Parts: sequence; C-alpha cells; structure tokens
Amino acid sequence: MSSKIRAGLIGVGAAVPEKILTNADLEKMVDTNDEWITTRTGIKQRHIAAPGEAASDYAIKAGKIAMERAGITAEDLDLIIIATITADSPLPACASIVQDKLGATHAAAFDLQAGCTGWVYALSVARNFVENGAAKNVLAVGVDLLSTITNWTDRTTCVLFGDGAGAGIVSAMKDDEYGFYDFVLGSDGSGAPALSIEAGGSRVPITHEALDEHRNKVVMNGREVFKFAVKVQGDAAELILNRAGLSMEDVDLVVPHQANVRIIESAVKRLGIPEEKFYVNIPRYGNTSAASIPIALNEAVEAGRVKKGDNILLVGFGAGLTWGAGVMKWAY
Ligand code: UT7
Repeated sequence: MSSKIRAGLIGVGAAVPEKILTNADLEKMVDTNDEWITTRTGIKQRHIAAPGEAASDYAIKAGKIAMERAGITAEDLDLIIIATITADSPLPACASIVQDKLGATHAAAFDLQAGCTGWVYALSVARNFVENGAAKNVLAVGVDLLSTITNWTDRTTCVLFGDGAGAGIVSAMKDDEYGFYDFVLGSDGSGAPALSIEAGGSRVPITHEALDEHRNKVVMNGREVFKFAVKVQGDAAELILNRAGLSMEDVDLVVPHQANVRIIESAVKRLGIPEEKFYVNIPRYGNTSAASIPIALNEAVEAGRVKKGDNILLVGFGAGLTWGAGVMKWAY
C-alpha cells in the first residue's frame, strides 16, 4: 500500500426517457428503412425525451442512482461535472441546476464539453481532483438529449441519435489496488467541421433565417468521422493499455462509445480482444453522445458482467474532434 490516493468509481447509474422511436417509426418520417439503418449502424431503436424535458432531469435521475449505490448523499459531493452538448440552456451550466436540485450544498459545479468523449474527459478531471486531495466525492455525469439538436428531416443523422444520461461517483479507493490506472485524452480541432452545429454561438447567432435552414442543428460528414473514429479508437486503446502496463489479455471488459456497431467491430479486429469482451447496447439506444459510455457501463454492471478486480477499458471519440480512453480495476 502506498500513501498516494488512488481514485476510482464507487457507484454508477443511468436514466433514459420512456418513449422509444423505432426504425419503423423513422421510415414514416424520412426516406430510410430498417435494413439500411441496421446493416450500416446496428441501431434498432432509440429513447427520445418528451417535450419540455431537459438534460438536468436525466442527469439528476442517473446521479441519484449512482449516489445511492455508492452509499453517499448529495451533501457528500464536493464537485459535479456534467459532460454535455445539450445543457438545459446556454446559461447557466447544467451542473449548477443539478447541484441545486440535488441539494448538493457543498459542491462546486461546471459543465464540460468534449462531444461524445465527454464522460471520459469528466472521469479524468474527477480523478485528478480526488487524487490531488481537492475533492473527496465527485459526481461525473454524461448526459445528452440529442433529439433536441437533431434535424429530423436529415436522414443521414436523424437515424443515429438518442437521449439519455449515465453517471458515476469518483472517490478515493479504500484499497489502492483498485481504481483508475490512467487516461489518455486528445483533440484535433482541424476536424471540427466534420461534426458541428453552425448557429447559436458567438460566431453565428440564431436568426430566423438560420432557424429556417436548420443551422441550429447537428451536421455531420459521416464517412470522415467514421475513418477518424476507427483510427483514434484503436490508437487510444493501445496507448492507454501500454501506459497502464496491461496486455490485451488482461482486459476483462471493453466499454466503447456506442456510435456504430461497425466502428466497434473494427476495434475488435485491431485490438485482438475477443468480441464477447466488448459491451454493445447500440441496438437499443443509438448514439447518446456523452451518455453512451456510462449508460453502457451501468448496464454491464447491472447485468453482472463486471466483478471486483476486473480490468475495464473505456474508449470514446466525438465532436471536436476529440478522443479519450481510460482503464480501471473495478472496485466492487
Ligand atoms: O459519436 C460520434 C459521431 N458519429 C459517428 O461516429 C458516426 C460515424 N459515421 C458513421 O457511423 C457512418 O458514416 C454513417 C452511419 C453515418 C453512414 O454510413 P456510411 O456507410 O458511411 O454511409 P454513407 O454516408 O457513405 O452513405 C451511403 C449511402 C448514400 O447514398 P449514395 O450517395 O451512395 O446514393 C447515402 O445517401 O446511403 C445513403 N444514406 C441513407 N440511406 C437510407 C444515408 N443515410 C441514409 C439513411 N437511409 N438513413
């Protein structure tokens, strides 16, 4: 046992909207079909928030579950980090709303934006707060209601996205044999145009014309993001395992960003980790952006796929363009 603090996850949770939108539903909305969506992406359905619901609603639900499982209350939180691209409104941070509604009276709160990589970034930041002694308990949430920024007339994007939230409590490990080994984070902003929203920020304000042209919604060059994703996903996974001193055989479970089943299959091939070790739930949720990895990790835990001492690899990529990977020894 060393005197160094080692941070790790002590509880996870997730929450998704009740309403389900199937591929058959989408066939009635745009020129698409179940066969195309299934073979190109693996997606069969996605959860969609009700009108009037916001990111904080789901962040709070997921956060409460994670806190309960971790055996802590909101008063025990020192920091709340919300990874999102769909905060309730541009101002204030979604994290401040969550902090208030949870009654986390001792917690600082901020949002973090790294697209679909957001939760991996949030865990890495939380880990640093805990390991340098600046926080004891951090609530790290990945939440996105992508349905609110989707152009529902664009078949190249609207079939991909879904809504939801996943959360984790990052704390000091009682036994420092467990917890995070390390993270790698990256960004290549030259790829920004491949996945972006043009209007609604400081460069291009929202105008009636911009709204008419859906310029406040996501546009994506799917092929470019696909190529980028396949490369950085493999690179980041190899790098983080190397840094942690782990071999591919040492990995018990991989929880990749759920964007496209073909991107996950490329990781299976490149890394040589057996397919059964990859947790895949994309058929039921689609791409939920920052929520995708924590929803999948939570499901894996609930399904009994994770046991104490397992080495778990998380790997994500997304708008920015960004990427990130982390590896941990599961603590409970
Ligand atoms: O979270 C990170 C962000 N996102 C991603 O990681 C997404 C990465 N990219 C992808 O997953 C894939 O590129 C897509 C699923 C978005 C697209 O798959 P693809 O195999 O790259 O298809 P494509 O864009 O090359 O399009 C192939 C054809 C096109 O028709 P033509 O030009 O060959 O006649 C498209 O117009 O498929 C057509 N198409 C569709 N057809 C039916 C595009 N969207 C649809 C659709 N239904 N929904």
